[in-house]
Amino acid sequence: MGRRLVTISDSQLRLREVIGALEIGDELFWEPTRIVQPGAWTGHLATAFWLVKAIRPNVFVELGTHTGNSYSAFCQGVALLGLSTRCFAVDTWQGDEHAGYYDEEIFVDLTAFNDRNYAGFSKLLRTTFDDARNYFPDGDTSGGIDLLHIDGLHSYEAVKHDFETWKSALSRRSVVLFHDTNVRERGFGVWKFWRELAAQYPSFEFDHSEGLGVLGVGREQPSLVARLFEFAQDPSAAPLVRRLFASRGDTFRHRARMLDLEHHITNLSGDRSRLGQELELVRRDRDGQSQAHQNVERQLQQLTESLSWRATAPLRAIASGLRRLPGPSSFLETATAAIANVGRDGAGSSKDPIFANSYRRFRRWTRTRRDLHGSRRRLLSLPDLTPEEKGLLRRVSLRVHPGDSMYAGDGFHYLAVGLSANRCIRDALRSAKKPFPAGSILDFPSGYGRVLRFLRAGFPNADITAAEIDVSALDFCRRSFDATMFVSTGSFRVLSLPRQFDLIWCGSLLTHIDEHAARDLLRLFREHLSQGGVCVVTTHGRRSAEWLQGQAATYGLSEAAQQKVLQEFESKGYGYTDYAHQSGFGISLVIHERMHQLAVDIGGWDETLFQEHSWDDHQDVYAFSA
Ligand SMILES: C[S@@+](CC[C@H](N)C(=O)[O-])C[C@H]1O[C@@H](n2cnc3c(N)ncnc32)[C@H](O)[C@@H]1O
Repeated sequence: MGRRLVTISDSQLRLREVIGALEIGDELFWEPTRIVQPGAWTGHLATAFWLVKAIRPNVFVELGTHTGNSYSAFCQGVALLGLSTRCFAVDTWQGDEHAGYYDEEIFVDLTAFNDRNYAGFSKLLRTTFDDARNYFPDGDTSGGIDLLHIDGLHSYEAVKHDFETWKSALSRRSVVLFHDTNVRERGFGVWKFWRELAAQYPSFEFDHSEGLGVLGVGREQPSLVARLFEFAQDPSAAPLVRRLFASRGDTFRHRARMLDLEHHITNLSGDRSRLGQELELVRRDRDGQSQAHQNVERQLQQLTESLSWRATAPLRAIASGLRRLPGPSSFLETATAAIANVGRDGAGSSKDPIFANSYRRFRRWTRTRRDLHGSRRRLLSLPDLTPEEKGLLRRVSLRVHPGDSMYAGDGFHYLAVGLSANRCIRDALRSAKKPFPAGSILDFPSGYGRVLRFLRAGFPNADITAAEIDVSALDFCRRSFDATMFVSTGSFRVLSLPRQFDLIWCGSLLTHIDEHAARDLLRLFREHLSQGGVCVVTTHGRRSAEWLQGQAATYGLSEAAQQKVLQEFESKGYGYTDYAHQSGFGISLVIHERMHQLAVDIGGWDETLFQEHSWDDHQDVYAFSA
């Protein structure tokens, strides 16, 4: 009995000593701001907090971020400790053979999280590890990276390559972390490389949560980390340190497992036939809803003209009518709330900002709807529309996002441009003279879907990907036109698209980039065009040059910029100038011969169509078929 008490007390004393020596404090109890699937890293979140405190890095780089559990913990540590660390996450956000290949939603979600929480000091670099290395100077010519977390592909060769590529960027205080040092399956080889490194550098290995290796590469290690390395050699201290962090890590690991289970349950319960039935119900619901919205809209339109203090009673009646609608849009919710409050504490008066704002938005919404429905009717009455085009126009969605700068109050032009793109695409497909599968379509850049809505209506079963740098536009395309999102930030040279496409539509992008970027973009398209696929691109050609010369259009360019682009167009066949105060984005003009040559240089496809100024009455259209 007496002996047991002494033993317990000894180990408690040792624990206290270890905690004191490593100065483990509050960070052990911090609540992580991000725990998402997959949860493999979550067991180390508390360790990440402590490492940030111990190292106080000037520069932190993570290779392999995926959904961001580890990266966000390091950023959280930086924020809570008030450090001036600059943090960089490097990933293609496409996945690899160990992590699996995943969808664009992951990058979109992490970008939004990063923007909300850590935009001041953290950057997501969407590129390969090797390419990102060029953006960091060697450690001996600058401060270098103090904390590097390597968590990419986990084969022996890949981890070794990553370490050796990035070693020269490390600082003299640098610490390198390796995840998955404790996995011995599926071709993982971190454990093997870790064993080689641990024989050369001071180190400490946490065994839990697939293993995390902490390696002291720099010659001047931060004092707390140096103490951790000393404990690695101490058989009574090392297990205590491991247990301490593992037990806290377990809490987070369990939370992540709960998420896995919830996800699993959701998947199980969502079997295909039930979803099919639900979809049918939703469709019916939506049709009814749209009818009801139209009725209410008509009533509101009548009332808005006579809107005043005295009109509060009928407005409230409308508001309660709106509330009864199945699943009203967020706009209607706001408008409904504002209208329902009319007369209360001054709410609803023209001076009430909530009401005024809702009312303004509502007016814009009704104006846009009226405009688009009217424009559709006018277009349908045009004699030169084919029956197929009329059908398309009847089916096309008229949802326009308020942030869509392509819609400037002229619904007729907005829809006519989409219809004109559809005509060009159909001509391009015919020109390729191949059976066209239309299984997968890329719209790059999609914007808020001016053309994409026609692609969706024309190819209802196609898997359509929208590529954009504007995440809000992408999200709208996903929700409204069932498109898969691809965030296309970064140079065209290093971008890699998630799949091959049968049809690529690129309207109004080559019109804004220089010849180098145009070559890179065409190469990107060629590399992602499936066999038999067709790529349709538009450019500014002779019609736009004539407009510039005659000042019928200036494209927002200064006199000097206009002259530059025209002069290059004449002399080289490809003219380009930046917009004022922008770099790498402006106006380009290109002649047919030059474009043809660019495509020939890339090779592997044929130009099957060239139509001068056939899109929107001024842009030239090309089709290249693989
Ligand atoms: C294991 S996951 C990262 C897990 C993450 N640290 C966490 O906390 O969950 C590996 C990631 O590395 C990325 N990746 C692998 N090799 C890459 C490379 N050569 N360049 C860029 N990203 C790469 C994959 O896209 C994947 O998202």
